[in-house]
Amino acid sequence: MRKAVIAGNWKMHMTCAEARAYAESFVPQMADLPDDRVVVLAPPFTAIAALSEALAGSDIKLSSQNVHWDNGGAYTGSISADMLKEHGVSYAIVGHSEPRKYHSESDEQINRRALSAQAADLIPIVCVGETDIQRSSRETERVIRRQVEQSLEDLDPSRMVVAYEPIWAIGTGKTCDAAEANRICGLIRSWVGYQDVVIQYGGSVKADNIDQLMAQSDIDGVLVGGASLDPISFARIAQYRVPVTI
Ligand code: 13P
Repeated sequence: MRKAVIAGNWKMHMTCAEARAYAESFVPQMADLPDDRVVVLAPPFTAIAALSEALAGSDIKLSSQNVHWDNGGAYTGSISADMLKEHGVSYAIVGHSEPRKYHSESDEQINRRALSAQAADLIPIVCVGETDIQRSSRETERVIRRQVEQSLEDLDPSRMVVAYEPIWAIGTGKTCDAAEANRICGLIRSWVGYQDVVIQYGGSVKADNIDQLMAQSDIDGVLVGGASLDPISFARIAQYRVPVTI
């Protein structure tokens, strides 16, 4: 049975003081969470230490929003896996569409980042997804298959998460239809070739669509941007309820 991974990506939001105030509201709301799921918060690098202290004693896990492929060296502005581990980080988002777009990250670089994360015992959350133009020109499957093959090369599929984030659904309020997101996640599972790989959906996930998304057979979690910034809405997302089928 795959454990669901419910992750909040704060992107470039939250000072240390804001992160502490968030934890004060969020942690008590997570007290009785079913153990079929893991909740992860990905603050900006500068708030990791403060949030790590504020989450001490809870089951909430920490993620970074990126990680470098090398252990150290002349890489101004970068952070290594060991630096993250020192603060209790256990996941690392790599290949998000924003660094892919704004920092021209390639699948090959993303693969190196994910490999260095696994080498340091961090779980990479590797993001893939198509643009609206690629979708309308029916290139979705080809684009995602290429990203899966190149970004995930040589990774151990039992220690990673793949996040399917259609770019046109990120921050737009246009959630991908749950059945279509499930179809793509199923294709990703077949391309990875490992039945138990954990696959998330991301893109305008909200408290009012989480239950439908999590009811899908191939969606094992979500990567949430905007709706994770409010501890009450993200708590509702983490407390998703799937209808019982008999
Ligand atoms: P939104 O939930 O704001 O659409 O962002 C999704 C995302 O990019 C998570 O990584």
